[in-house]
Amino acid sequence: MAPTFGLCCEDAVGWLARLPAGSVDLVITDPPYESLEKHRSVGTTTRLKHSKASSNDWFSVFPNVRFANLFAQVYRVLKRDAHFYLFTDPETMFVAKPIAESVGFKFWKPLIWDKKWIGMGYHYRARYEAILFFEKGRRRLANLGVPDIIEAPRVHRGYPTEKPVAVASVLVGQSSCPGNVVADPFVGSGAFGVAAVAGGRHFVGADIKPEAIRIARERLESAGARERETLVLHLPESGARAVGSVAFGLDEIG
Ligand SMILES: C[S@@+](CC[C@H](N)C(=O)[O-])C[C@H]1O[C@@H](n2cnc3c(N)ncnc32)[C@H](O)[C@@H]1O
Repeated sequence: MAPTFGLCCEDAVGWLARLPAGSVDLVITDPPYESLEKHRSVGTTTRLKHSKASSNDWFSVFPNVRFANLFAQVYRVLKRDAHFYLFTDPETMFVAKPIAESVGFKFWKPLIWDKKWIGMGYHYRARYEAILFFEKGRRRLANLGVPDIIEAPRVHRGYPTEKPVAVASVLVGQSSCPGNVVADPFVGSGAFGVAAVAGGRHFVGADIKPEAIRIARERLESAGARERETLVLHLPESGARAVGSVAFGLDEIG
């Protein structure tokens, strides 16, 4: 069966809450942390700068106080023995880890994404990002020889904070099998979805921004995946309308 995908323009936690319990094999995600706001105020990132000239001001941050609800939903939707990878910055990882543990996850270690080239920062220039590696139940990694440092250059001129497909491909290969369902509740440009479908997995994702959904859909289709049933969603908060995909019935494809 060719890989399929489903996308919803919706808040991450609300979307996860609508997925059936135990319906997803792997979650890989990358929320926009509130620490970005701090870095913006001291000039160590331009990511959320308000500027007509830049591609920023694209998304609002996801506050740390929502982690408990988010992680509880991630835990609920995962199958009994499954992995969860959380991209974080070096500040947020210390906040996120104990909260994820408190909802039931076993924390193994931070993996390092080595970007191969220095970025911004005044206290040692930033060259890495941490990926927290959590487990629900017990699941064996596909290849026990893979190191905990994953090297891949950062994406230039992509979606704000876009992650390389190459990094996600390692995680998809290690923690899922062809035909499995991979989920990302903060889909952005769909990089993790592209890694999933390129590896023969199905993908479901959500993002609060219609523009992200449009970009992710294009990328997933270009990667050869077929979109599942679509519908028009009404977003009560903004009054906006956005096209999304139903992400129900995952047990049919999982
Ligand atoms: C850091 S970006 C993800 C980038 C993605 N990993 C990629 O490689 O392109 C975070 C995304 O979360 C979305 N977002 C912000 N708040 C959200 C929320 N409450 N629910 C769902 N998505 C949200 C933003 O619109 C943004 O696209």
